[in-house]
Amino acid sequence: MRLLVTGGSGFIGSAFIRLTIKSEPGTEVLNFDSLTYAGNLENLTDVAENSRYHFVKGNVVDPQAVDRTIVEWQPDAIVHFAAESHVDRSIISPQPAVETNFNGTFQLLEAVRKHKISRYLQISTDEVYGSINEPAEADETYPLRPSSAYSASKAAADLLALAYFKTYKLDVIVTRASNNYGPYQFPEKLIPLMISNAIEDQPLPVYGDGTQVRDWLWVDDHCRAIQAVLKKGRSGEIYNIGGSLALPNIDVVEKILTAVGKPNTLIKKVEDRPGHDQRYAITSDKVMTEMGWTPQVEFEQGLMKAVEWYRKNTDWIERVRSGEYRDYYEKNYAHRGTNLAQL
Ligand code: NAD
Ligand code: TYD
Repeated sequence: MRLLVTGGSGFIGSAFIRLTIKSEPGTEVLNFDSLTYAGNLENLTDVAENSRYHFVKGNVVDPQAVDRTIVEWQPDAIVHFAAESHVDRSIISPQPAVETNFNGTFQLLEAVRKHKISRYLQISTDEVYGSINEPAEADETYPLRPSSAYSASKAAADLLALAYFKTYKLDVIVTRASNNYGPYQFPEKLIPLMISNAIEDQPLPVYGDGTQVRDWLWVDDHCRAIQAVLKKGRSGEIYNIGGSLALPNIDVVEKILTAVGKPNTLIKKVEDRPGHDQRYAITSDKVMTEMGWTPQVEFEQGLMKAVEWYRKNTDWIERVRSGEYRDYYEKNYAHRGTNLAQL
């Protein structure tokens, strides 16, 4: 099996590659990644010397680079992770999200069509369903009501991928996961940001009242589900992948402070995110029934593992937060009426 993985130097893509190289001895992986601020070759140090792992620096919006890579690599399947993945950044600047998430997917689908690649996996998100009122949970037929440029660009990309299944009979599958957490997650997202700020006794910026609910999924559980869907998923289908655990943000932040051993006084309520989705909730019955998959890591256990990892890897945090990160941090937090940006 020859896999082409896009965005493999990011958080989930690198976890997927590490898992695949370890658990699938018959699989070779080519990681195609443009190395944006979120892409980090250090995330793949564990497999960098493995003869079944290869890397090409390239941009998914560049049709020539995509075409050349597919001609040379001759993949059996593509797993498309590459994205501008952060809601807050897409609020500050929507253009990169639309360009990479929609146009990047379009370029890949065109290459799949041209080269008749046998399987294409579109890695998507539960955010495409938008905010869901209690007690409903979205299954795969739930209407798409995205709220941010990030989630709208992901929803548009999902629809394009499914249109290529219908029109061109391509072997396309879409997976929609809930919020992932685990090692190597860029410290702009809730859990790694709060852990690293707590470790450094810095304020923990909770948006609004902190009652917004997210479903949390340990990243390796997500990657096992992707592996299963890649092998056994049905063409043209959508599979939700959730952690079956919904928690308000404030509870997550308090659990982090307990795990790190720091006081709740570090919590700082700040101005809310515009268009903030109140609640995400999905049912993963389909992937559980069809693939026999279940999430294995419980949140408390996963959080301890994550805290442990970020404690041990403060040098990694320092490196990824240097340069561009400070600029983003100031843009995102300075106007929220706090002195967080002076970190
Ligand atoms: P990430 O931001 O950590 O990594 C994204 C990777 O894509 C980086 O390595 C980056 O360099 C690469 N990339 C970005 N633009 C590119 C381009 N134009 N060409 C080639 N490479 C490019 O993202 P992540 O959190 O690992 O998310 C991976 C995928 O999973 C995304 O598609 C995201 O929408 C989806 N997803 C994420 C979550 C989550 O909680 N993080 C949940 C559900 C779905
Ligand atoms: P995030 O990790 O950005 O993921 P998403 O927006 O894709 O769900 O945020 C998770 C939740 O945490 C979301 O409700 C926004 C909230 N949040 C904060 O309260 N403060 C923060 O500094 C960040 C980054 C997120």
